[in-house]
Amino acid sequence: MSLTAPQRDVPVYDLAGVGFGPSNLALAIAVHEHNSAAGSTPLTAVFLERQARFGWHRGMLLEDATMQVSFLKDLVTLRNPASEFSFLCYLKERDRLIDFINHKTFFPLRVEFHDYLEWAAAKVDGVVRYGSEVSEVVPVERDGVVEAFDVRVRSGDAVSSYRARNLVVATGLQPLAPPGVTLGERIWHSRDLLTNIGQIREADRFVVVGAGQSAAEITAFLHERFPAAEVCGVFSRYGYSPADDSSFANRIFDPAAVDDFFTAPPEVKTMLMNYHSNTNYSVVDTDLIEDLYRRVYRERVAGTNRLRLINMSRLAGATEHGDRVTVDIETLATGELIPLDADVLVCATGYAPVDPFPLLGGAAARCERDEFGRARVERDYRLRTEESMTAGIYLQGGTEHTHGITASLLSTAAVRSGDILTSIATRSPTASAVPAVSLR
Ligand code: FDA
Repeated sequence: MSLTAPQRDVPVYDLAGVGFGPSNLALAIAVHEHNSAAGSTPLTAVFLERQARFGWHRGMLLEDATMQVSFLKDLVTLRNPASEFSFLCYLKERDRLIDFINHKTFFPLRVEFHDYLEWAAAKVDGVVRYGSEVSEVVPVERDGVVEAFDVRVRSGDAVSSYRARNLVVATGLQPLAPPGVTLGERIWHSRDLLTNIGQIREADRFVVVGAGQSAAEITAFLHERFPAAEVCGVFSRYGYSPADDSSFANRIFDPAAVDDFFTAPPEVKTMLMNYHSNTNYSVVDTDLIEDLYRRVYRERVAGTNRLRLINMSRLAGATEHGDRVTVDIETLATGELIPLDADVLVCATGYAPVDPFPLLGGAAARCERDEFGRARVERDYRLRTEESMTAGIYLQGGTEHTHGITASLLSTAAVRSGDILTSIATRSPTASAVPAVSLR
């Protein structure tokens, strides 16, 4: 195990955030507000982000796409409705507050929410190091007790290190490709859609695999952007199914639902996830389903049939050759294999949480896991560890098995950040006594 001994002159942050997406941005704001409050003991923090600037799923910022969560579940409001980091304050500053009210929607455009996130990120810029990829975490041990971590960071060719008493890992999700399919020049994951689409000037066929919100959005986008191309949506369902965003079901995203889920026995956790997965997974907003249906019907009337939905089917394989890709579609009812020659295959096949353990290096061995190898996580999102580790590791994301469906979503980001901050502040009573680190 690689270990470092404490050195006197190394500044120690109270917390280092790994990744700076919305989750750790919400935490940076919570720290800022905590430090600004009269009488509080300030916490020192640094956030390390591998992207060169703030960005939230840039490859999917489609012009028309809207948020799947109310604007009131922004970075702060559920924790502090009076915060100056709210979506409403952002609107006020952008001189759009009254226009947004007249718009009568809870669901802003994703492009607009991205602008909000960038606006908020710019306000806490001093605590963020962009272009900084965390490559390794090394425990700092004194007398057999791990009391801090050295967080190794790569910025281009340079390697630097930050020492912190607590880590908050919020590295998001990793794209999932269908089994046996390798992403490439003409086989993309939905994540990279807008990054790659500029290289396609003309096309005669696109294939989009998946039945979730991203798949439906991409199918509609390609159908509109390439008026001469056929767009084939391929999925194993019979048809796109609507996301359940009805009021009672929506309570599964409430902060209180996290408590209920956390204390529930494993079989009840599984039951809840099964009942309510259709609030988030493999489902599509009703408006978009209706829009796609209208297009299909319009084309049937016109006899063009350019938008083809190939249901009860799965992707059996895909091979790139030059600037084309052969996509093999298996019809589930008959087992028949249909090859489709396409310009691009887009795999809107979802994401999986990033396993935090490889990054944690020597610290991982001191973390407890359940019978499935998953992290054991406390209610305050802290990894349960051996007693010989007083330094804390917190997870934002990757806790669906313990905290429920909101783990990788925005719904509870504000409240979760408050929970983590409170935990760190409570466990660091000597915070003010550590050498303060000047923030950029
Ligand atoms: P996120 O993935 O946003 O950020 C993680 C950050 O960590 C990234 O910036 C990454 O670069 C960085 N990172 C990773 N490894 C690193 C390392 N080793 N070193 C340094 N940095 C590292 N949810 C919702 O509630 N409502 C919605 O409307 C939507 N809409 C939506 C649209 C699309 C297209 C997608 C793909 C997802 C959503 N989501 C969503 C779900 C989504 O997971 C959620 O909105 C946030 O992105 C979660 O924020 P995080 O900060 O946890 O992860």
